[in-house]
Amino acid sequence: MLIPFRRVLLTATRQHNCRLFSDSHATSSTRKGLVLGVYEKQPDNEGIRLTEAAAAFDSSISGKLSEMLTISGPLLKKGKSRTFYGLHQDFPSVVVVGLGKSSTGVCGKENWDNCKESIRAAVSVGCRQLQDLEVAHVEVDPCGDGQSAAEGAVLGLFEYDEFKTKKKVRVTTQPYGSVDSAAWQKGVLYGDGQNLARRLMEAPANHITPTAFANTIEQKLSPFAHKVAVHKRPQCWIESEQMGAFLSVSKGSEEPPVFLELHYKGSLDSAQPPLVLVGKGITFDSGGISLKPSSGMDAMRADMGGAATVCSALVTAAALKLPINIIGLAPLCENMPSGKANKPGDVVRAKNGKTIQVDNTDAEGRLILADALCYAHSFKPRAIINAATLTGAVDVALGSAAAGVFTNSDWLWERLQKASIVTGDRVWRMPLFQHYTKQITENALADLNNVGKYSRSGGACTAAAFLREFVTADHWAHLDIAGVMTNKDEIPYLRKGMSGRPTRTLVEFIAGLASEP
Ligand code: BES
Ligand code: ZN
Ligand code: MG
Repeated sequence: MLIPFRRVLLTATRQHNCRLFSDSHATSSTRKGLVLGVYEKQPDNEGIRLTEAAAAFDSSISGKLSEMLTISGPLLKKGKSRTFYGLHQDFPSVVVVGLGKSSTGVCGKENWDNCKESIRAAVSVGCRQLQDLEVAHVEVDPCGDGQSAAEGAVLGLFEYDEFKTKKKVRVTTQPYGSVDSAAWQKGVLYGDGQNLARRLMEAPANHITPTAFANTIEQKLSPFAHKVAVHKRPQCWIESEQMGAFLSVSKGSEEPPVFLELHYKGSLDSAQPPLVLVGKGITFDSGGISLKPSSGMDAMRADMGGAATVCSALVTAAALKLPINIIGLAPLCENMPSGKANKPGDVVRAKNGKTIQVDNTDAEGRLILADALCYAHSFKPRAIINAATLTGAVDVALGSAAAGVFTNSDWLWERLQKASIVTGDRVWRMPLFQHYTKQITENALADLNNVGKYSRSGGACTAAAFLREFVTADHWAHLDIAGVMTNKDEIPYLRKGMSGRPTRTLVEFIAGLASEP
């Protein structure tokens, strides 16, 4: 809604009793806040452009909000906020956040939807502002897209303070005004899904062991028990499946491995071939005998990010009741140096009989995934997608902008990319040339070497080529998510820490697949 400048000037001169930029004196019983959006002023118009909900709020208090915005300077840049106190008796604190220009949607250059990203960012800023003021309940302007607003609120408010004595205020949120509550609820579930992955990734490795990881996912799936089966396969099962590559990694640790197998039967047709999701579940990656440098090694507690994101996506698909069959697989173990650990040069045998020379024990992700990918084929899947914090090289290539996708299927690629444009959690296609395959097959005592012969060159691509040696399915995609594992300040609606990316993209992809005939 456009408010003519003249009216703003008139109302601004009226007497009012609002406190601007002052400390809140509200008591805890009235600690309710409101987040509202405002679009960026266009150069050719002088007024303030409020969202529909903000305009409704404004008229309920006879234009006081636009008055205040004008007094404080009408220019509110994208992602910037202003807090007003005492404007409305139900909302002692109101945060107005800039949404940027209103007319932009999907951007072909950025491969995301500018509108949705602006809403997520703005809402997260507003909610955090109120959280810092210790406001415990926040109503949120859906900004014309309830799902994105809910995602911004749920993702923006997440803080991992499980082990802190002093915790941030737990903020509950709800949409403000008349809204599409289904869209809001969907956004909450998408955000909760990503937050589950963030929590698992951030958790210390002495707390999220393979066993604890499996138990957490089992517990998260318990509300959907009628449609879900959980198998926590122990070491003896892994041995009976002849997963020699996985076992070669897990044997270096005192912590027992678990092969987590989840079945979600969401389709009415129980014979529908499943989508199989596979996630790398190294709950701590020290590098093994090829030990990593100690600086930054703590981040390797998140080396189960593949398992965390695919399992969280499956939990979310169940919560959304998506009509599709999914199987989730996560080989879970630690990669540790010990007297029993893999040694450089050791040769191990994977489930499909291929032999692998382990020249670098820090390239362990591909070893555990090799066996999991072999096993995935036993379900006659409609597609296989694996996610793994696999290589530092993908971080060098893409940074945190996008997950690298290596796929043998244009069909899968199109759907993954389409999903990522909606979620803003982007993907970028990478090559699976024979060029790279040669580099892992031509330098071994065995069928394969676990590192390429030009070690650092094309590291993400040789890792993908290695995984492909364990795939016969026509539709397979490998997501290397090492570059998107953490967030510093790149994604404005995620705080610093483990990102839980690309859980929402996986969920959106699954939702798209479930809606196809
Ligand atoms: N977990 C690491 C990859 C990683 C690096 C994830 C940085 C997140 C952030 C993986 O197991 C690894 O160590 N890969 C090696 C492979 C190399 C030895 C061929 C790497 O990337 O250096
Ligand atoms: Zn690793
Ligand atoms: Mg490693």
